Amino acid sequence: MMRLVLLGAPGVGKGTQARRLAAQERIPQVSTGDILRESVKQGTALGLQAKGFMESGRLVPDDVVIGLARETLTSPDCSNGYILDGFPRTVTQAEALDRMLQETGSAGLDHVVSFDAPHDHIIRRLLGRRTCPTCQTVYHIDHAPPTLKDHCDTCGGALAQRADDQSETVEARLAVFERQTSPLVAYYQQRGLLRRLDATGDIHDVYRRLRAVLGLAGA
Ligand code: AP5
Repeated sequence: MMRLVLLGAPGVGKGTQARRLAAQERIPQVSTGDILRESVKQGTALGLQAKGFMESGRLVPDDVVIGLARETLTSPDCSNGYILDGFPRTVTQAEALDRMLQETGSAGLDHVVSFDAPHDHIIRRLLGRRTCPTCQTVYHIDHAPPTLKDHCDTCGGALAQRADDQSETVEARLAVFERQTSPLVAYYQQRGLLRRLDATGDIHDVYRRLRAVLGLAGA
């Protein structure tokens, strides 16, 4: 049982590490970004509400995302823990998560890991990211390329750049992170939950460091 929050700037590598850790530890990765993107793709009411915010790099309103998180975290899939990737992202969301944990009588979070990397690393990771629109597998043109250029190794689909990974939107997302999400570092530090992770270096090095920070054996 482990309840984790991964905190960090857009593109720092949270999703990449969350997927790997989730597979090895057999607990679900809960990515509000992935859930919202799927809703946009399906054209649901949630997707229609979220689309404009996401494409311009702004946060989807707190009440919408808190409702979504509540629905997901109280589902049976999450009864043995979860890795939260991209939630909470504002102090209001963090307070709502604390209330949800209290209401469900759960023990609190085990760790909140802050992924730290310099701005230029983050920009390179975001601008080089390619995603499979069919199965959502994530690649990087230099650091995690597909075997066959521009095609997904998993399903063969044509890779695409996320709408919000264009350079103008990237800057807007990083500014939003600084203004609205970075205060969560102090929020969780005050509660004794914050662990800092050096997120530079290749994907395998970061994963080894992440396991060490969480006190987990091996990589
Ligand atoms: P979301 O999908 O959560 O995006 P994000 O936080 O901006 O994070 P990313 O998915 O862009 O990056 P990541 O850190 O997971 O990096 P990744 O592992 O892919 O949110 C999108 C939008 O949805 C938001 O802007 C907002 O509108 C909305 N939203 C979502 N949650 C919300 C919330 N709670 N409240 C309000 N709105 C919300 O890696 C990036 C690239 O780098 C990849 O190509 C990868 O292969 C590569 N890479 C990873 N690690 C390394 C490494 N160590 N070395 C080299 N390359 C690496």
